[in-house]
Amino acid sequence: MNDILAIEPKHPIDWAIIVRRALKPVVFTLSCLPVAWLAWAALNNGLGANPIEKLIRFNGDWALRFLLIGLAVTPIRLMTGWTDIARVRRMLGLFAFFYVCLHISAYVGLDQFFNWRNIWADIVKRVYITIGMAAFLSLIPLAVTSTAGMVKRMGARQWRRMHRVVYVTTIAGIIHYIMMLKAGYQEPALYAAILAVLLAIRALKKWP
Ligand code: HEM
Repeated sequence: MNDILAIEPKHPIDWAIIVRRALKPVVFTLSCLPVAWLAWAALNNGLGANPIEKLIRFNGDWALRFLLIGLAVTPIRLMTGWTDIARVRRMLGLFAFFYVCLHISAYVGLDQFFNWRNIWADIVKRVYITIGMAAFLSLIPLAVTSTAGMVKRMGARQWRRMHRVVYVTTIAGIIHYIMMLKAGYQEPALYAAILAVLLAIRALKKWP
């Protein structure tokens, strides 16, 4: 009886391989949930009294959250030694760009009806829009160079150096958020605190 129980299974379950294989599809699926919820809410009259404002704000929030989640990857790797997590960093960055594009599309198409003169006036006059625009423009080269071919062409070192701009982008995103508010600064304050912790972890690991 004991001998039977002691028999090793022929193919032991390798959890490391399962987690490794599942990581990308799971992160991809989770990252699609906000836009899936938005589509569902839009189709079911669930966007509230001001649906355009809701669309702009919801996507702006998720753009900022994905920037922060992407920036959390390296600190998590440094603290836990879980190197596989780096495999989803690029995907998270692209989701940040995707949600920024939805955010801006809602503003340009639904709020401003493609009135480019008004949009330009907004960019020039309202400082929070100017800063948001600068943050958006800084993401374009990162999105364009996100393919494996581009990483190869640029060289990993130069690519990594260029992608450090995302810290500045995220700071600009938080300032953009704070400047548009008239009250209730808790959420952007929380984002700023998270960013400060992430930067501190990186700095401490670099200079022991
Ligand atoms: C990386 C770039 C950007 C990020 C991360 C970002 C993020 C955000 C966030 C978090 C909010 C506040 C959402 C809330 O109240 O819950 C917001 C608001 C807003 N953003 Fe952006 N944004 C970016 C770029 C832009 C650009 C380029 C424009 C326009 C050209 C823009 C237009 C607006 C507007 C109009 C609002 C205020 C909406 C309202 O008053 O209800 N944003 N953004």
